[in-house]
Amino acid sequence: MNTDFPWITYKEWSDTYGDIIYSRILNQDVIILNSEEIARALLEKRSSNYSDRPRFATMELFGIAFRTVMRSYGDTWRKHRRIYHQAFRPEAAVIYRPMQLRKAHQLLVGLLHDPAKYQMHLETHSASIVMSAVYDYDTKPNDPLVSMIRGAMDSVIHAETPDKAAIIDSYPALTSIPAWFPGASFKRHALELKSVLKDMIDTPFEYALDRISSGLSAPSMVSEGLARFQGDASFELAIKESSATAFGAGSETTHSTLLVFVQAMVLNPEVQKRAQAEIDRVVGTDRLPDFGDRVSMPYVEAVLRETMRFYPIAPLGVPHAAVNDDVYEGYFIPKGTSILTNIWAMTHDATKYPAPFEFKPERFFTSSGDLNDDQVAPIWGWGRRICVGRYLADASLWSAIASMLAVFDFLKATDENGKDVDFEPRWTSGIASRPVSFPCRIIPRRSDMDMEKLTSLTSTAV
Ligand code: HEM
Repeated sequence: MNTDFPWITYKEWSDTYGDIIYSRILNQDVIILNSEEIARALLEKRSSNYSDRPRFATMELFGIAFRTVMRSYGDTWRKHRRIYHQAFRPEAAVIYRPMQLRKAHQLLVGLLHDPAKYQMHLETHSASIVMSAVYDYDTKPNDPLVSMIRGAMDSVIHAETPDKAAIIDSYPALTSIPAWFPGASFKRHALELKSVLKDMIDTPFEYALDRISSGLSAPSMVSEGLARFQGDASFELAIKESSATAFGAGSETTHSTLLVFVQAMVLNPEVQKRAQAEIDRVVGTDRLPDFGDRVSMPYVEAVLRETMRFYPIAPLGVPHAAVNDDVYEGYFIPKGTSILTNIWAMTHDATKYPAPFEFKPERFFTSSGDLNDDQVAPIWGWGRRICVGRYLADASLWSAIASMLAVFDFLKATDENGKDVDFEPRWTSGIASRPVSFPCRIIPRRSDMDMEKLTSLTSTAV
């Protein structure tokens, strides 16, 4: 078992055993689905049975069960989904586009000013879009609120390791040991984490309430939720908790996908040139791309799709769980089983995507030269649990990619002799995975592109 990148092992198993695999991992019954067709047959056609999440004893213990992503299938989770849907359904998500373009332009300024810190700029860009769309909060460099939320998220990741869950699930009596008991450091951790999480949930929410009462607020998930569900007190907690989930669900995912894009551009200069030529043809050089250009730039669209296909940053998605016993094609699936979908295997299926390890946006065109209708849907998950931020994320990704390609070349770094520094892509392990830091050189495409010129382009745009 490749424990760092289990999706690779699962794909190898599926080549031997078929597309449905049962395994027992750290005390949990797990079924791994390696085909999109089977994932849809179970998680979409039988969604009332497969929209739950697995339960881990660590969730209650550490106070991390409030998040939409891990909520049990039930009324509170439904409230969370309604709140997200209200703010980020396709017709509503367009409100955020001017803000997303502005953030893309701030990203360009950051890259021009200090290209070596490209990872930090991408991280800041994605975080600031989520904070703005959810709380109408404008992040500043080294923002204290974002740092506090990131710190809390790190503690959550630390608390949530599967081995801790397995130990506590196996010995539930451990949870009754008092915090002062020698060796019960996890109980002290749990108390600390609960207080950190309270700040993470309350502080940005209170900021959003202040903005709303000042009358200055722009639309946000919190303001839309409060307006829509006004008078129903049961929604206030749901608005607080669902919005506190958004940073963890939406910031790193977007930032990681943009890192996949930058790495792909460095390693595939001919793709980059073709996309830039399309942008120059459609947009010209006197302005920056905006959403109105999107339909006229199919190759840029294909680059975005190929980025998502080439490396889905949640390679195994988020586990679903079976509510009741079920039988599928003769396989018995017991109640409570965790269902993992091997999204990475689906986007690397050589019958659907020939040469799957090559970055080829051309695969998204029909023989007559039109974009095909493959939107790489598995990367957003399945059925009733499908990602609720996908329209927001898609617009953040497109605006960042089109803006970066318009202004910069992404090249291999060079050594002291001016020779290219070659590298093999490597990836971080974990439930969410992204490129390990790689050397690259980001330079403006035009020799006259300085801060003054860039500022004039960005200020005419929005
Ligand atoms: C490139 C960016 C993103 C990717 C690839 C992504 C992917 C996913 C995936 C695979 C799931 C699990 C779906 C399932 O269980 O079947 C998910 C769930 C979720 N996503 Fe996203 N996501 C992204 C951005 C966002 C953004 C920007 C937000 C919010 C602002 C967001 C909010 C959520 C929430 C709340 C859930 C939990 C849904 C539930 O459990 O009902 N995501 N996402």
